[in-house]
Amino acid sequence: MFSSISVSARGSAQALVVGQFKGQKLDSTTLKLDPDGSLKRASERSEATGEAGSVVTAYPAKGYERVLILGLGDKESFETGSLRRAGGMIGRALAAAKVTSVEFALDGAFGSIKGSVDEACAGQAMGEGLGLIGWVCDEFRGSATSNGKAPGKLSVKASDRDFAAGLKRGLGLAEGSNLARTLSQTPPNIATTTYMAQQCQKLARQFDSLKCTVIKGAQLEKEKLQGLINVGKASVHPPCLIRLEYTPKTVARGAKPVVFVGKTMTYDSGGLSIKVGGGMRGMKRDKDGGCAVIGAMHAIASVVKPKQKVVALLMCAENSISDEAYRPDDVITFRNGVTVEVTNTDAEGRLVLADGLCWACDKEKPGYIVDVATLTGGIVVALGSTYAGMWCDDDDLRARVEEASDRSGERVWRMPHHSEYRDLMKSPVADIVNSAPVRAAHPIQGAAFLSHFVKEGTPWVHLDIAGTHAVDKDSGEYVAGPTGFGARLLAELVAG
Ligand code: BES
Ligand code: MN
Ligand code: ZN
Repeated sequence: MFSSISVSARGSAQALVVGQFKGQKLDSTTLKLDPDGSLKRASERSEATGEAGSVVTAYPAKGYERVLILGLGDKESFETGSLRRAGGMIGRALAAAKVTSVEFALDGAFGSIKGSVDEACAGQAMGEGLGLIGWVCDEFRGSATSNGKAPGKLSVKASDRDFAAGLKRGLGLAEGSNLARTLSQTPPNIATTTYMAQQCQKLARQFDSLKCTVIKGAQLEKEKLQGLINVGKASVHPPCLIRLEYTPKTVARGAKPVVFVGKTMTYDSGGLSIKVGGGMRGMKRDKDGGCAVIGAMHAIASVVKPKQKVVALLMCAENSISDEAYRPDDVITFRNGVTVEVTNTDAEGRLVLADGLCWACDKEKPGYIVDVATLTGGIVVALGSTYAGMWCDDDDLRARVEEASDRSGERVWRMPHHSEYRDLMKSPVADIVNSAPVRAAHPIQGAAFLSHFVKEGTPWVHLDIAGTHAVDKDSGEYVAGPTGFGARLLAELVAG
């Protein structure tokens, strides 16, 4: 839609965006921007309902080429988060009109409501919406469908300084999400394990604050990362642990490192427990937990810049088939001594995450750990693409995740841990199985399994994003395809 969006304070803009609440006339401050009454007339047209996300255009005889009246919804229940979707609608309208520069002047409308609107938050949500709707991934269009036209650039500005600063931050966060989406979209014959490692190395070269190391081959053995080794051993693309580290110039006193662990399965065929029917389609996106973490690291290094260390562990492998594949009935001994009987090679995500959780607890001295994974089809059945499943029994950490979720609009819903779920995972021949013989509480089985690899006392969150990592139709700020879910949530988590 747009190849790039930048915030610029200079020059006059081609288009202006003002706000109108549902069922309301334009406020007096906004009407001052009306040179010839065209804005007022447009706001009185029947389609100018002020419905959230609606856009009505006025064409003044002088000044701006066009003025977009953005519907802000109910005045009484206005929330800045609604501007994310609105930003998407504005972005669509601007792209359709081939507009290259736009100015936001929503402060008039905001000033008309009781209580104050946080201009920075409003600008951020708008920036996120514009940035997210702007995502294009045409790299794989060939001579049969490519129209050869490059998408245009958009320059944005705002009358309010805080709104402008928010726009900039929002666009930066969206860029992180968009990096995650582009990686998600990249096909599995291209986005191999080595490719993912190269992308992280490239990111680390872009920012002084980022460092990347890749653990593979004999080093995996040495570090006892048996989950990665076993899940990845049937593929010609060797498994690896990609470690990305963000170090700030100064660390706040007492701030412990935060560790993100991302499931980065470049393809999930199911392995010997092969996926049947349509089940395999789309499994290039089984790396989306890792992609979200990479996107978060981009946003962290470029706009959030927290005063604490952040470590990303990307557990990267391809779950494939060959005579060397790991099999149901195998028993794997993990780094922390826990033994796992493999009952289903399609429950591979938890095996590679187990390595990451052990590593985080042993080596990173974490203040807390968050793992992100497209772990189970069960969470799609339970929550659809509206909420990600969240497991976290630490009250403080959970409150922080929920706050970050509110700020980012990436919704999470709490799911339970209980010893009865851990009991489901007991194995007759090893400590635990990777998949219980019963389908009961499927997504929770995954969390119960993972809990065996987190040291007692370390605050930990597990996010199952199998439902939220992609959408199947255009909606709000998203086009059909990957959402980058988690990138902005994680970035906000370390910001707050
Ligand atoms: N990658 C899948 C989960 C998934 C399903 C992600 C749908 C995105 C969309 C995961 O590795 C998997 O295969 N899970 C199985 C687990 C089962 C075999 C224990 C599942 O959920 O059915
Ligand atoms: Mn699987
Ligand atoms: Zn998987």
